[in-house]
Amino acid sequence: MLHITDSQVSELLDFRGVTEVLAEAFQDLAHDKAAVHGRQRTDCAGMKLSTMGGIWAARNVAGVKVYPTVTGQFSFAMILFDLSTNTPVAVLDGNELTRFRTASITRMVASRAAAPSPRKLALFGAGLQGRSQAHALCEVFRFDEICVVDPKAEGAWCDRLQSLSGARVRLTTAEKAVRDADVVITATRSSEPVFDGEWLAPGAFVAAIGTSTPKGRELDDTTMSRAARIVVEWKQQSLVEAGEIVLWNQRHLTEKYVDLPELFGGQQPWRLEQPGITVFKSVGVGLADVATAQLVLSRVRGGWLLAADEVTA
Ligand SMILES: NC(=O)c1ccc[n+]([C@@H]2O[C@H](COP(=O)([O-])OP(=O)(O)OC[C@H]3O[C@@H](n4cnc5c(N)ncnc54)[C@H](O)[C@@H]3O)[C@@H](O)[C@H]2O)c1
Repeated sequence: MLHITDSQVSELLDFRGVTEVLAEAFQDLAHDKAAVHGRQRTDCAGMKLSTMGGIWAARNVAGVKVYPTVTGQFSFAMILFDLSTNTPVAVLDGNELTRFRTASITRMVASRAAAPSPRKLALFGAGLQGRSQAHALCEVFRFDEICVVDPKAEGAWCDRLQSLSGARVRLTTAEKAVRDADVVITATRSSEPVFDGEWLAPGAFVAAIGTSTPKGRELDDTTMSRAARIVVEWKQQSLVEAGEIVLWNQRHLTEKYVDLPELFGGQQPWRLEQPGITVFKSVGVGLADVATAQLVLSRVRGGWLLAADEVTA
């Protein structure tokens, strides 16, 4: 079995490639050629063990990602099976894989569901995930302005983002960031709402990716109530895991929810005729990990790695 390290995963992946493979996997999920293995969590003495995965029958692969959570920090690993031979084929370190697939799923949804040509991005949380969210989006959107809200954001990273994106990047307050923003990303570890939904522009696209437990939320009730629609990855998991939904006082407004199988299956349009606020709430689903791991493996087999980085068995 191959062991593919985080640094090899990072060398092999790009946001565009991952976004494309995710779209193919969710398209197959919509047509019963893939299935999600929902997250299982086990708690003991303040630590957690979680598993999530999926079967991508159309590509003959299945896999599971497993990760402990200790003092709030994750450590991801993934095992991938070839279903044509029914054998395990690779173990992948899962930290880079998770970073790429989380940013790419936001990009996949934003490029289909957000109003075209957004000019202003508000980013809450410039940690590992938040920085990747910004980089993935700046490859598809030409922002004029990026407002970063994070007391710990690094000025050097803001400067780098400014030169990469061509946008004016500045650190600012929550309200200044959200007012007039076309796209708002929350990628913090906060369990309390990070802005007031009254500040949102009428056609804003909001992606909340930062918490996946029912006890915490980055978005307030106002944001959820003002949203014309709430996009989730996969209802079966998202509606019970997302604190934004579980803690929302109007969570029973079921007509607002739409998930990726419904969108890729054509049962629902990506954009509404009467545009309003769109919320994308991401908790992370295992099929995205399987699809991303499959892309890594196919690139290893296709000789994409530098010779010095050969994968060991
Ligand atoms: N949706 C998914 O699939 C998925 C996948 C991986 C991680 N996550 C989640 O993403 C979150 C961020 O992960 P990370 O690895 O980037 O964490 P990180 O610790 O590297 O970064 C979090 C950043 O948020 C900032 N922050 C905290 N509270 C804030 C607030 N109220 N306003 C603005 N900024 C604030 C912190 O200063 C920090 O820089 C975690 O909660 C993690 O569970 C989600």
